[in-house]
Amino acid sequence: MLTITNIKRPNSDQSESVTVENGAIKGWNIGELGQVIDGQGGTVAPALIELHAHLREPGQTEKEDLASGLAAAAAGGYGTVVSMPNTSPVVDDPAIVRMLIEKAEGLGFARLRPAAALTRGQKGEQLAELTYLKEAGAVMFTDDGRTNENARVLRLGLEYARSLGMVVSVHAEDASLRADGVMNEGPVSEELGLPGNPAAAEAARVARDLEIVAQTGARLHVQHLSTARALDLVREAKGRGLPVTCEVCPHHLTLTDEALRSFDAIYKVAPPLRTQADADHLLAGLLDGTVDCLATDHAPHTRAEKERDLLTAPSGIAYIELAFPLMWTRFGEQLGLERLLDLMTAAPARVMGWPTPTLEEGAPADLVVLDLETEREVNSAEFRSKAKFTPWAGETLRGWPTLTVVSGKVTFRREG
Ligand code: DOR
Repeated sequence: MLTITNIKRPNSDQSESVTVENGAIKGWNIGELGQVIDGQGGTVAPALIELHAHLREPGQTEKEDLASGLAAAAAGGYGTVVSMPNTSPVVDDPAIVRMLIEKAEGLGFARLRPAAALTRGQKGEQLAELTYLKEAGAVMFTDDGRTNENARVLRLGLEYARSLGMVVSVHAEDASLRADGVMNEGPVSEELGLPGNPAAAEAARVARDLEIVAQTGARLHVQHLSTARALDLVREAKGRGLPVTCEVCPHHLTLTDEALRSFDAIYKVAPPLRTQADADHLLAGLLDGTVDCLATDHAPHTRAEKERDLLTAPSGIAYIELAFPLMWTRFGEQLGLERLLDLMTAAPARVMGWPTPTLEEGAPADLVVLDLETEREVNSAEFRSKAKFTPWAGETLRGWPTLTVVSGKVTFRREG
């Protein structure tokens, strides 16, 4: 049994305590039972849910592994993480799904819910064994990291997944339009003389995929939307009642292609950082509900890889440990606490068709305590992730998680 004292529920000033037992919320204000932890006046919420993280197991453990990635997630306030299958080998085999789940359970930092590849080897040619992958515990099918070039294969995958009641999510970039672009195509890429990846690569692919949704009626989730135009397409599709959802990443809201003037590959990500107008449009989409949820696309690489030049460095930004503070500090006023928490807890659950996380008695004891006030500098040397560098290093942020509890067990506690 565990009691967290001195905490407030969102939008309340009342100091309360919550007691958890056997992985569930036993009750509020029922006394200091079991182990007692002082919540120090923080705000308690259901633990965050991440639908998009690259944890790099199996096979790329020099970048990240389950232990480091899930510890990082716990430090970021996450209780559940959907891992991406673009590993080595690809997660297209039920035995790998089972191995990941078992290993993560042994670690205990956050619940791992692996996504599996939609196609064998993520090659986009033949569907993976979707039924067996689901039976093994995969919660989503995606070829993320790669694009689904063959529309017929995607169609078949969507239809198959629908019959299984599963979500397919897509990395929406037209590979031929993206070509060898390493940053957003526009005045900045032209000035820097770097190959550009046009907004049309994303919009064209989203348009195609939405036509497949319209034809099949199958459920699609669009990952890491980065352009105004693609978001408008999703908005229109939702207006027509199509079963589509989408996510936006904090890096596309807080950084733009101007950052590439540094020639630092820390800013290289796929889809690329866009313009301020795109970022503003995405924020408007968060406010008007077109964007379903936030996801980080936590994508760690080694420092040596990211120190390469922009043409050869891999894409990806890793920051699962600071996603909430980043969003709260930058957009807390516009979004409000309730909407921001929804975007990082209940909204991802809705996308997946999972039960809505709540703080009610009897609900799973997956909790985060957030210090919404105290400013702290981002110190990437302290990251649990193996990627101990980030675009926001040295920035002062508020909203740091101080305590994460998963299934009634403390998985992270911030000292000091
Ligand atoms: O920037 C990215 N990095 N985008 C992706 O879709 C894949 C990811 C990775 O795996 O590194």
